[in-house]
Amino acid sequence: MAANPTDYKFSFGLWTVGWTARDQFGEASRPALEPWDYLPKLKEAGASGVTFHDDDVAPFGTDDTEREKYFTRFKEVADQVGLKVEMITTNTFAHPVFKDGGLTSNDRSVRRFGLRKLLRNVDRAAEFGAETFVMWGGREGSEYDNAKDLNAAHQRYAEGVDTIAAYIKEKGYDLRIALEPKPNEPRGDIFLPTIGHALGLIAQLDNGDIVGLNPETGHEQMAGLNFTHGIAQALWAGKLFHIDLNGQRSIKYDQDLVFGHGDLISAFFTVDLLVNGFPNGGPRYDGWLHFDYKPSRTDYLDGIWDSAAANMEMVTLLAEKAKAYRADPEVQEAFKTSGIFELAEATLAEGESLSDFLSDASAYEEFDADKAAERNYGFVKLNQLALRHLVG
Ligand code: GCO
Ligand code: MN
Ligand code: MN
Repeated sequence: MAANPTDYKFSFGLWTVGWTARDQFGEASRPALEPWDYLPKLKEAGASGVTFHDDDVAPFGTDDTEREKYFTRFKEVADQVGLKVEMITTNTFAHPVFKDGGLTSNDRSVRRFGLRKLLRNVDRAAEFGAETFVMWGGREGSEYDNAKDLNAAHQRYAEGVDTIAAYIKEKGYDLRIALEPKPNEPRGDIFLPTIGHALGLIAQLDNGDIVGLNPETGHEQMAGLNFTHGIAQALWAGKLFHIDLNGQRSIKYDQDLVFGHGDLISAFFTVDLLVNGFPNGGPRYDGWLHFDYKPSRTDYLDGIWDSAAANMEMVTLLAEKAKAYRADPEVQEAFKTSGIFELAEATLAEGESLSDFLSDASAYEEFDADKAAERNYGFVKLNQLALRHLVG
C-alpha cells in the first residue's frame, strides 16, 4: 500500500509493543524482551518516537545505581536508532501501594510517596528531552461512593498536579503536563473520567497554563462519548497537548485495538480533524501521533510488528482519504448547503450592542420560524459523500 509513515510524527508507548499479553484470565502469551530491544524494530516499522513509564525501563524497586544503568542503556539505543523520547509517564498504578491511588489515596504517606515518584520522573523527562509529561491516574478513584470524601479527593488531585507543574516551572524545564482521562478500569470509577472533567480541573489550577490533555480514543468511547468532539473541544481550549490513538468497539472494557479497528467512521473524522483542521480554520494539532494500543494476545512476536505497522497505516490511509474528501468540490458545495461556513460567523454582529440586538425585529418579532424550519441542511448527503471517500 502507498502508506508512507515517515510523513507523520508517529510514536508508541514501550508498554504497547512490550505488552506480553498477561491478562486477568491468563498468563503471558509472549516473552518479554529487554526494553531497548524493542527500539530497532519500532524504528523499522516507521515510528520516529517512543514513550515509556519509569517502571517500563527500570522495574519498580531497582536500586539507584542499577536504575541509572537501565536508563543510560535505553537512551543510548534510542539515540543510536534515531527514536526521540517525546513523552514520559509515571507508573502510579501497578504496585499495590497505589491500590487506593497515587495522588488521591486516603493514606497521606502514600500520596507523599506518589508525588515524589512523579517529581523524580519529571527530572527524567527533562533529562531525556521529552516535551510532554503524561499523567494517567488509573488508580485515582473508587469502587464505592462512600470510600472517599469526594471534595477532598479533588482537592488532593489538584494539589498534586499543581505541585508538579510548579516544580517544572521552578526548574525551568521545557515540559508540559498532559492529563489522560479514563472513565473506569482498573477502578470502578476513575476521577477525571472524560476530557470535559479534566478541562474543568485544569481551569481551577494555579499553574494550569502548562497543564493540558492526552485524550485516548477508546477512553471516551468506553463512556459512549464522541472522541472527535472531545479533542475538538480540547483544541478549542488550547489544551490538546498530546494524543493516544487506538481502537474501541462500543461501551465495554478498554480494548486498546489498533487505531481504526474499532469505530472506523469515527476514526476517519478524527484523522480529518488532525490533518485538515476545522473547516473554518482555528487551532491545529501539531503534536505527536502516539499509539496506545495492545497487540492482541492471539498474536505472537511477528504480530507485534504487524499491528504496530497497522496503526500507522490506518492513519496514513485515512489521511489520504480525508484530504481527498476536503478537496472534493462536491463536498465543499455540500459544506455550503449545510451551513458549515455560516457557523463561523458570530451570532451578534461586530459592534452590535445587546440593546441593538434586542431591538432588531428581524431577529425575533418578524422572524418566520416556520419558514426557517423548512431548511434542508443536507447532513445525510454530506455524510454520504464522506463515506463514499472512506469506502470508495
Ligand atoms: C490505560 C492507559 C494507559 C496510559 C499510560 C500512560 O488505559 O491503561 O491508557 O495506557 O495511557 O499509563 O500514562
Ligand atoms: Mn487505554
Ligand atoms: Mn492511554
